[in-house]
Amino acid sequence: MKALVLGGDGFCGWPSSLHLAANGYEVLIVDNLSRRLISEKISTPSLTPIRSIERRIEAAQKIGNIRFAYCDIAKDPGKFKEILVNFQADIVVHFAEQRSAPYSMLGDAERKYTVDNNITGTNNLFSTLTELNQRPHVVHLGTMGVYGYNDAFGEIPEGYLNITVKQTQKDVTIPYPVNPGSIYHMTKCLDHTIMQFYAKNWGFQITDLHQGIVWGTDTDITSTDEDLINRFDYDGEYGTVLNRLVVQSQVGYPMTVYGTGGQSRAFIHIQDTARCVLLAAENPPEESSRVQVFNQISEVHTVRHLAQMLHDQTGAEIAYQDNPRREPAENNLRVSNAGLCSLGFEPITLADNLTKDILATVSKYEHRLDRSVIDSRARW
Ligand SMILES: NC(=O)c1ccc[n+]([C@@H]2O[C@H](COP(=O)([O-])OP(=O)(O)OC[C@H]3O[C@@H](n4cnc5c(N)ncnc54)[C@H](O)[C@@H]3O)[C@@H](O)[C@H]2O)c1
Repeated sequence: MKALVLGGDGFCGWPSSLHLAANGYEVLIVDNLSRRLISEKISTPSLTPIRSIERRIEAAQKIGNIRFAYCDIAKDPGKFKEILVNFQADIVVHFAEQRSAPYSMLGDAERKYTVDNNITGTNNLFSTLTELNQRPHVVHLGTMGVYGYNDAFGEIPEGYLNITVKQTQKDVTIPYPVNPGSIYHMTKCLDHTIMQFYAKNWGFQITDLHQGIVWGTDTDITSTDEDLINRFDYDGEYGTVLNRLVVQSQVGYPMTVYGTGGQSRAFIHIQDTARCVLLAAENPPEESSRVQVFNQISEVHTVRHLAQMLHDQTGAEIAYQDNPRREPAENNLRVSNAGLCSLGFEPITLADNLTKDILATVSKYEHRLDRSVIDSRARW
């Protein structure tokens, strides 16, 4: 089976590509390496010394059949089409988007870039596949942030809500109402609408993975060889919250908790991202007229709880700061992850103590850390 991995050089894409290759897939990574460039332009490179894509691919040959093609899927639809024609994918996994909410809120240029890149890339993929009459199963990485973070409708179901219409008393199933909290999250809502249309009109099999915030850095494969090492971001724009707090607790930087820290969010470990992507890829929706949604999450915690846990482990100080974001100070969140669990997903949880692994990684590469990029510059 052939898997085309768009954005396979990134934080989630690289370990997921390796996991697919290790499980017998012929993998072609397509990436424009923009994440590496943005790092250098706005903040700092990955804390871990990730290798060039060429060196990564060379090392990955020991894991399985894996290659790389440089292409910007938003800006170069001609080259992208050539790749799709030549590769004839059975599965396309789509990670290739600008994925930072704070980055997307920095200013005019970042808002426009995020929308242009994410929406055009997704539409280019489906439009070209339509033109070529190819129908691979497309697995798209979405986010829990499309739902907003509240329990107004009870536990958040997987993409669809069963309701009774007041006026007609009819029971219907509707797409869960979207409620994005940033330009980045808005693009994921738009992606979802684009995919619903392509599924309905052209019969695509599509799975949208509404993923929680990813933590950790290594997987069982990336940890086997320094040349396969995964990226680790800790800066204010691209670092994900738990990874940032771990870095801060390790280097004696007061842990930055916004407001009361009462924001509840869903989390997943990077190893589970790779496993869930494979599970999802192997289980396309039976019904092709609507997008299958899985909430790709392991557990829900408040930011305050995470900081307190690290304080208890390391003694690090917590610095409550004015919240730079427009969001409720506290929220309740309950999320169903029944879909992936029914396929055999057994989540890694924080109780599994993997923060110790991250602490070890941070300590190993602490000499590369730039403290000046820890605070976020985005305000909204
Ligand atoms: N990291 C998280 O916590 C998280 C949580 C939920 C969802 N997601 C989603 O998972 C996906 C991957 O996230 P990540 O953390 O690995 O991000 P990342 O920035 O590390 O990886 C994205 C990759 O896509 C590439 N890319 C971006 N635009 C491209 C384009 N136009 N053409 C070709 N390649 C392009 C980048 O160079 C990068 O290698 C994203 O879509 C993101 O929204 C991530």
